Amino acid sequence: MTVTSGTATQTFIPKAAEIAREAGARLREYFIEGVETEYKGDVDLVTVADRTVEKLIRGRLGEAFPEHGIYGEEGTRERMDGEYRWYVDPLDGTTNFAHGFPQFCVSMGLEHRSEGTKPEDDGTLVAGVIYDPMRDELFTAERGRGAQVNGRPARVSRVPELAEALLATGFPSRKRHASPNIHFYHEFTLRSHGVRRAGSAALDLAYVACGRLEAFWEFNLNPWDTAAGILLVEEAGGRVTDFAGAHYRLASDEILASNGLIHEELIGFFADLFAGRNLSPIPTAEEFARARKIKNSQ
Ligand code: IPD
Ligand code: CA
Ligand code: CA
Repeated sequence: MTVTSGTATQTFIPKAAEIAREAGARLREYFIEGVETEYKGDVDLVTVADRTVEKLIRGRLGEAFPEHGIYGEEGTRERMDGEYRWYVDPLDGTTNFAHGFPQFCVSMGLEHRSEGTKPEDDGTLVAGVIYDPMRDELFTAERGRGAQVNGRPARVSRVPELAEALLATGFPSRKRHASPNIHFYHEFTLRSHGVRRAGSAALDLAYVACGRLEAFWEFNLNPWDTAAGILLVEEAGGRVTDFAGAHYRLASDEILASNGLIHEELIGFFADLFAGRNLSPIPTAEEFARARKIKNSQ
């Protein structure tokens, strides 16, 4: 659905891309210098880079689009009644960043909230920018105008079945013990070419959009992680839903993004796994050690 006139929507990306590049350059500098890490909770890390770069993005977006709202991971809540709202993750992949593992990005997704949109309802995602400063890769999308990587068209892959797919997922840094995702990780690993856990959900979504991955799923992400990536995947010809195939909402507890071709197959497996069907047997570590001992003694 297009919610603004062509020219109006088109003006968002060049400015947003410029801001994401500037923010990414700051992240890169911090990454090279090295920064102290603090704990927000459990293993939820934060650094001076997360906070400073969110402040930078908030300032730049405020100058460029003074009427737009901003909802940022590090606490920004500005003009939340605005017609447009940016979801900003200044540093997606903080754990990687803090350990010197070069997989992280800036993510900015723009939602249009037409008059009368209830606070609990989603508007329409109209623009998204994800920037990886270590590879200098800029992923952009606008509703109705396709997705691009460094200005070239991005398309999802044409891999038609799970057995030939490369997948990605992630694990939460809060309430880790309550997450069942390791079971899904295990089952999908056995049914595909493999599951990557690279540590940046926004880049995982961007990689689905440009055909480097066939699908990505995760529990309990936030709109700042997903807003830009969802639009990228959809505009690149893919599909984004919850695990049961229902329309994805920004407040959803589950995201499943794919090239579209393997989506139904994935939904079928989610249904099976949630129902306890089709589980693959796996030895416990203890059973494995016992068998190994017997084998070694023969
Ligand atoms: C995290 C990353 C990670 C995902 C976590 C997110 P952050 O974001 O996207 O890949 O598995 O659930 O919280 O904390 O680095 O911005
Ligand atoms: Ca994030
Ligand atoms: Ca973050």
